[in-house]
Amino acid sequence: MSTTEKRVVLVTGATGGLGTAMCKKLYDDGYIVVANYHSEDKAKKWKEKLHEEGYDINIFYADVADFDSVGKMVDKIAAEIGHVDVLVNNAGITRDGGFRKMTYENWRAVIATNLDSVFNCSRHVINHMIEKGFGRIINISSVNGQRGQFGQANYSAAKAGMHGFTKTLAMEVANKGVTVNTISPGYIGTDMVMAVKEEIRNQIIAQIPLGRLGGTEEVAYLVSFLASEHANFITGANMSINGGQHVY
Ligand code: CAA
Repeated sequence: MSTTEKRVVLVTGATGGLGTAMCKKLYDDGYIVVANYHSEDKAKKWKEKLHEEGYDINIFYADVADFDSVGKMVDKIAAEIGHVDVLVNNAGITRDGGFRKMTYENWRAVIATNLDSVFNCSRHVINHMIEKGFGRIINISSVNGQRGQFGQANYSAAKAGMHGFTKTLAMEVANKGVTVNTISPGYIGTDMVMAVKEEIRNQIIAQIPLGRLGGTEEVAYLVSFLASEHANFITGANMSINGGQHVY
């Protein structure tokens, strides 16, 4: 990192596969890493395991779907650690199923956790980033927000919505030293992807020109780059990382 003052990075949904890889890479880069979690039991075990591996990561609870819950978390982080300089909106869930059978609850759950969360977290950190004259917001979307996927009307809508948000906020804060970008991973070897039935997953892998799932650390390197000052001139962008599955 080129600054002498350590920057604070907040990764939401940090205890999942992508979140864990991001936390480790950003820690290795020299950031103070704050991991947001939803399930306390899982988060405590996660923190211990990472500690054993040499990573000292702070964990903070918030339900990212709830504006006030995020507000409390951001205030607590500011009081105990400092203002957030880099926000990675990574928390996400799936509730897959064909649209004819999709329930209102499964629609709302995915929109709330995957898209409302982006508003909730960004809104609570943006003004401090503007005051500092530096900030990064990195939204983790999906190839399925770029192209659609059978069974994911809720997820695709939320992920496409993230990039609409990115484009507008990027314009609004470009002259304040704050960049806002989207990363759209394809199928990465996470629990979320491994939960897709094997037969369907193999059909999907067959559509990926690189012939394999992506690695979580491959996405983490892209997050690290966008968070850095090497990426000062990149804003409002949507970066694909999908093994060639969707090119346009
Ligand atoms: N394409 C075309 N038709 C399909 C289909 C497909 N991929 N999948 C199912 N169908 C058809 C079925 O043949 C069936 O047809 P009939 O009505 O004529 O019999 C109809 O659609 C309904 O089928 P199901 O009852 O099986 O559908 P369902 O509502 O249970 O949903 C599904 C099936 C669970 C969505 C399954 O297709 C699936 O798992 N798809 C993969 C979804 C996926 O890729 N999820 C990604 C999760 S990981 C992630 O999201 C991370 C990321 O960002 C990439």
